[in-house]
Formats: sequence, structure tokens, C-alpha cells
Amino acid sequence: MISAYKEGLNFLDKDDGLSAAKKFNEAELLFPQSEWAPKSALMAAYSYYAYNYYGDSIYELEQFIKKYPKGKQQSAVMALLYLVQSQNNNWIPLAAMRYIAKFLDMSYIKVYEVATFYSMFSLAPVGKYFVQICTTTPCMIRGANNVLDVCKKHIAKNQNELSKNKLCSWTEVECLGSCVSAPMMQINQDYFEDLDEKKTEEIIQMLLNDKFPKPGSYRNRKNTAPENGRTTLLEVKNA
Ligand code: FES
Repeated sequence: MISAYKEGLNFLDKDDGLSAAKKFNEAELLFPQSEWAPKSALMAAYSYYAYNYYGDSIYELEQFIKKYPKGKQQSAVMALLYLVQSQNNNWIPLAAMRYIAKFLDMSYIKVYEVATFYSMFSLAPVGKYFVQICTTTPCMIRGANNVLDVCKKHIAKNQNELSKNKLCSWTEVECLGSCVSAPMMQINQDYFEDLDEKKTEEIIQMLLNDKFPKPGSYRNRKNTAPENGRTTLLEVKNA
């Protein structure tokens, strides 16, 4: 089983993500039947996909690099990872990291280090609707565990597991910087705030029906303004 996995990695090494299997079926034939076989085959197939994809996106990548001084093009690594993710169903394939390393003339491990450090980068497939639930202290004491339970009940028992209809997945994350609207969660690029169990259920049901709910406060607050109007700075206009 391990050797099948290694074989998958060697396959990617050999081809460097630039000329891997032309389609999933071909890739699947390269690996012996085992628990790891589909994963290895999938990686190879994605490798091919990444090559084609970035072949069409070179111009966009170059525009990012131009924003940095000459000789400092490696500073564009996060921007490039983010671009990859936003254009690849919210996750970054291994082959794309290799491609970025080559493109920026840096070692692959450095790209990998950046990609694995930030939770904003996903290195495995996620649902079309990727739900990130903050469970840091302010959200936790305001009921983040209830939000978590709803996701476990309706999306999947474990984090990073796809829902039965393959549309959603969820994960637990650290503070997303919106503590004033706790508890909250991020779905793809948007924040859903001031949640409770019932509101979370409604949101998740919409996602499972392939509809994107309205982001923002679920207690009808305007941004993070106090619910019952201002109590300070009353004399300051537009405070
Ligand atoms: S603790 Fe949840 S957003 Fe900060």
C-alpha cells in the first residue's frame, strides 16, 4: 500500500507535474489495486490538469510578479498560491506548487512551507462550499460548538470530509478576526456572523441545495455596529 503511494509520488517526480497522465483512467492503470491507488492516480491526473491550466494563465501569473522589485519575484509566492486556489475549486494541487516553484525560481520545499503554514490554503480537495468554523475562545464561549455540531450533523461527521452530495466540506480554524460577531464561520470568501444553531442549520441546508446564502450578520446588524444603536461618540457624525 505504501509502495503504491510512493510510486505515485515518483511518478510525479519523474514528470515534474508537466507531462503526467492524460486522464484519470490512464493514471489509474499505473497503480496496483490498494487503498492508496485512487489517491496516487488522482494526484497524477491533477498534475496533468495543473499543467494545462497554468499554460493558459501565464499572463496572469506574470502580472503578479511585476508588482515586486526585480530579483524579489519570490515574494509573489502567496499571491500565486492564492490565485491557484481561487481558480482550482478552492484547493492547491501538489503539481501546482511545483509549477510555482519553477516559475519563481525557488525550491519546491519553500513553496510547500508557505502553503502548509497558512490555513487559508487547502492542499486537498474541498467541497464547492468550504465551511471554516472559528472555534477560538471568543467564538467558543458564544456557541461555536453548536455551529460545529450542525456541520457534523448535516455535512459530514469528520472535518475535511465531503458531504454525501459532494457539495460541502467543513473544517475548524483559529480566529478569523471577526470576534466581535462571534460565533462566526467563513464560507469560501465570505463571512457569516452572529450565528446560532437555527441560523447555521438554515445556511447549511441552502448550501446542500447548491444555493449560496446571504453573507454578513445573522442578527441583522449593519457590519459590526451595536444592535441597539450607538451608546458612545454620539456627538461625532458618522462615527
Ligand atoms: S475568535 Fe472567532 S473570529 Fe476571533
